[in-house]
Formats: sequence, C-alpha cells, structure tokens
Amino acid sequence: MASPGPSVELALVTGASSGIGEAFARRLASEGWSLIIVARRGDRLSALADEFRREHGTSTTCVVADLTRRAGLEAVHGAVGDRPIDLAVLNAGFGSTGPFASADASREAEMVRLNTVAVTDLASGVLPGMVERGRGDLIVVSSAAAFQPVPFMATYAATKAFELHFIRALSAELRGSGVRASAVCPGPVRTEFGGAMGGDGLDPRIPHISAEEVVEAALRGLRRGRTMVTAGRVAGIASAGRAVPAAARAAVIGRVHRVFRNRPRR
Ligand SMILES: NC(=O)c1ccc[n+]([C@@H]2O[C@H](COP(=O)([O-])OP(=O)(O)OC[C@H]3O[C@@H](n4cnc5c(N)ncnc54)[C@H](OP(=O)(O)O)[C@@H]3O)[C@@H](O)[C@H]2O)c1
Repeated sequence: MASPGPSVELALVTGASSGIGEAFARRLASEGWSLIIVARRGDRLSALADEFRREHGTSTTCVVADLTRRAGLEAVHGAVGDRPIDLAVLNAGFGSTGPFASADASREAEMVRLNTVAVTDLASGVLPGMVERGRGDLIVVSSAAAFQPVPFMATYAATKAFELHFIRALSAELRGSGVRASAVCPGPVRTEFGGAMGGDGLDPRIPHISAEEVVEAALRGLRRGRTMVTAGRVAGIASAGRAVPAAARAAVIGRVHRVFRNRPRR
C-alpha cells in the first residue's frame, strides 16, 4: 500500500459510519490520510471528520448517500470529481438471515444493489484514474461467506462470492499496471452488522474478532500483494474448506444452521 509521503494521500471509504469502515477511516486518518467517507448517517460522519481534524489535523469530506440508489452513487462520484484516489475501501454492505422463501424480497434486492452493483459502480469510478497514474489500491470487504453457498444467508453469501470473484479477476487484469486489488474475507466481526441483518442476527456463540483486526489483516495483505486475505479463525477454516465440493459444504452448513437455530441461546 502506498503510505502518505510529503504530499498527503487520499482514501475513499464507504460504510464509514460504523464497524469495519469506521475502523478503516480511523486507522487511515491516524496515519495522516485525507479521506472521503460515505454512509447514510451523516451525523456520525461529521463527528468522525471533526475528530480527525482535531486529533490528526487531517481533512475529511463527508458524503451522505444511500448507495443502493443511483443518486447516492452520483453523489460519491461528484465528491471525488478530479481528486486522485490513492486507496478505495469499498466496504458498505449488509446481510440477512433466515429462509429465503420468507425473506423480504425488496430488502434482498437492496442488498444485491449495495453489495454488488454499488461496488462495481464505484470501482469503475476510481480505477481508470488509478490505471492512468500507474498507482492506487482497491480493497473490497467481502466475507468468509464468499467461500461457499450459505443456506439461510443465501443472498448475502452470493453477493460476497460476487465481490471475491470480481476482485480476483480485477487483480489479474491489473497485473503490471501499478494498481492492486484485494478482497478481505472476515468471519464474524463485532460491529452493528448482526443487528442490521434482522432475524436472529449473527450467533454470538461463534467466535467474533474486532473491526481493527480486519483492517490490520487487510492492510497487511495488501502490502504483501495478496489478492485475498482472511481475517479471523472462522474465515481461515472456511477458506481451508474450499477443498471440499461446494454442494457438500452447503449441506453441512445448512444442517449446522438448523441445529443452532433450534437450540436456545444462553
Ligand atoms: N460484521 C461481520 O461479521 C462481517 C463479516 C464479514 C464481512 N462483513 C462485511 O463488512 C462490511 C461492513 O460491515 P460491518 O460489519 O462493519 O457492519 P456495520 O457496522 O453494520 O456497518 C455497515 C456500514 O455500511 C453502511 N451502509 C449500510 N447500508 C448502506 C447504504 N444503503 N448506503 C450507504 N451505506 C450503507 C452503514 O452506514 P449507514 O447505516 O450510516 O448508511 C455502515 O457504515 C460489509 O460489507 C459486511 O458484509 C461483516
């Protein structure tokens, strides 16, 4: 990853109002980066921008935008304008849990728009400039759910697989260009994600890691030129399980979900 030199570098971080995106923004601001941060909760973004100015003397542009909407994506493109983005962290995303047949169809479609369409659109916005300048990094926050179909999180896992395949392909396309693309695939992380997903959320009995650990793994992976990095033990196990056929893994995960769903949490 390019690190801030004499001229301050600029990062775009989506979903910076909480969780992993906020941890990315905090880490980069503490290292002296200027930021463009994006989310719907503008009050949280403004509070972060004030804090970064006060604590680190860095400049932060807040973009209040719903990335499931065309207008939200246009707002981000407008805020970026001609400013050269050195690092784009495409992180905004949400999931859902429960049987697909009884899921809220409009919410599932919204998830597909945020986790795939917005990622594609924003990557299209920043990559041409990076390629022209011969430098720049793209990080997409995918998930351990990307490694196999996940019954009871069917749409979410499919969107995360999209992100992982997308980044792997881009990384190969970009070889030799000076631009790097990397996907970070965390297992469960202590953020607002579980609450936002509705239903039972993420099961607290599964080991969780911190958002800061995800950021550390992502930046280390990028420095080492990795196209994909896992974060946390659960993700490491899921990644290792790729040797087993996907259909078999989906069947096992489905069975585990059923057992856990029927067993009361303490
Ligand atoms: N937590 C986990 O266990 C886990 C594991 C693996 C991967 N991930 C991935 O990590 C990423 C970040 O999630 P997180 O765990 O940090 O969850 P989080 O705390 O809920 O953060 C999600 C972020 O996305 C933003 N966002 C949600 N909907 C949006 C929309 N329509 N337009 C713009 N921004 C939107 C939220 O901001 P506003 O609500 O203010 O818009 C928030 O800043 C997601 O892509 C998720 O799939 C999470």
